[in-house]
Amino acid sequence: MLTIAVDGPSGSGKSSVSKEVARRLGLAYLDTGAMYRAATLWAQRAVGDLTDQPRVAEAVRAMPLVMGLDPDAPIVTLDGADVSAAIRTTEVSTEVSKVATNLAVRDELRRRQREIITGAGGVVAEGRDITTVVAPDADVRVLLTASEEARLRRRSLDVHGVADADAVEATRDQVLRRDRDDSTVMEFQVAADGVVTVDSSDLDFEQTVRAVLAVVAQVT
Ligand code: C5P
Repeated sequence: MLTIAVDGPSGSGKSSVSKEVARRLGLAYLDTGAMYRAATLWAQRAVGDLTDQPRVAEAVRAMPLVMGLDPDAPIVTLDGADVSAAIRTTEVSTEVSKVATNLAVRDELRRRQREIITGAGGVVAEGRDITTVVAPDADVRVLLTASEEARLRRRSLDVHGVADADAVEATRDQVLRRDRDDSTVMEFQVAADGVVTVDSSDLDFEQTVRAVLAVVAQVT
């Protein structure tokens, strides 16, 4: 029952790398960022005003969310509907920090995340606070970092399909603002004690996957 915790900023490649590591090791995969995104979509619909912290927290506590744990199809279901695409829209991405900085929301989602991790029977869980708060006793804890330049290039490729100067500029604001907002409630750019840093700035996808697998091999 291996638990692997992976944290990192947006554009570090942690989602695609974590999924691939889960696939190769035959583990479940938990995308905790998708839970904050789902909470944002839910609160946008149920409350509207995301600055109303008590009402947003109350809505999130009642949120009927089911997380798919298959790394090949990590489907997110909200109230019976597949919202895997809806939680990736700009409307959600630009607002998610408002919900993620609501401490009562974090308490609720962390409780659900611990429950999922405990019940998964071996999992790669990725996010911002998994190595430090959600699963500090995980068997393997990795902080996946990358230079700002590399992160912007990757996010630009993800969102716009290209990484020319214009596309990177269009991405810069959103990525850096989100990291800044997120940093107000959690530290995820510096590795905590016992957490192994993997810097993917100069690594391609396969090399990054292997670097994480090498960390796993050291402890297992
Ligand atoms: O990883 P992703 O970019 O999908 O995460 C979306 C947002 O969810 C982050 O910007 C952050 O605000 C929030 N988040 C968090 N804690 C986590 C995972 C994500 O606050 N463990």
